[in-house]
Amino acid sequence: MKIKQTEFVISAVGPSQFPEDGLPEVALAGRSNVGKSSLINKMLLRRNLARTSSQPGKTQTLNYYKINDDLYFVDFPGYGYARVSKTERQAWGKMIEQYLRDRDPLKLVLQLVDFRHPPSAEDQKMYQWLSHYEIPMCVVATKTDKVSRSQWPKHSKIIRQTLGMPGHVPLMLFSSETGQGRDELWSLIAQAAEI
Ligand code: GTP
Ligand code: MG
Repeated sequence: MKIKQTEFVISAVGPSQFPEDGLPEVALAGRSNVGKSSLINKMLLRRNLARTSSQPGKTQTLNYYKINDDLYFVDFPGYGYARVSKTERQAWGKMIEQYLRDRDPLKLVLQLVDFRHPPSAEDQKMYQWLSHYEIPMCVVATKTDKVSRSQWPKHSKIIRQTLGMPGHVPLMLFSSETGQGRDELWSLIAQAAEI
């Protein structure tokens, strides 16, 4: 994938603000701080297009990024942030569920989990939601640079088992620090988005 142009398009709070040009969309889900925005920046080779923060819970809208005239990345708000109120949590759930259920241009969801830890109860719930809506998905384990290589098979196995991933669902290992997994992820995205 040759990145010719990248652009932040909109922080959408609802469907009326979603783009209408029908370009394929690749969405990123995962708990706060897992590295969604960092992954977008790494994929696009932009240092700070998607805002990253060590303060979790920052992204509260669906943030659209356009790549060439080929596709959008849609950065979801992170879940699992303790200091978010119940009302906000419910609003989040409603927005995401509606998007997953109704959004025609959605071609692939990348579900990010932290490679260092077993997936949380909310990760498991998200995974089940995606399976339920039969949306093509890929689990991306982030921050692999923080785990020593000898531990990779063990951590991969725990993630697969905890989420109950069948063999055909890919588990990609990714690091925004080193760029590990970037080429492989682009291949998968290009295939899913048919670009
Ligand atoms: P929200 O927007 O709050 O949902 O978080 P996010 O999922 O977008 O996480 P973000 O990309 O902002 O990253 C959170 C923190 O983790 C930042 O301090 C990043 O620098 C760090 N981080 C993200 N990816 C990696 C990685 O692959 N390796 C390492 N070492 N740090 C990472
Ligand atoms: Mg973010």
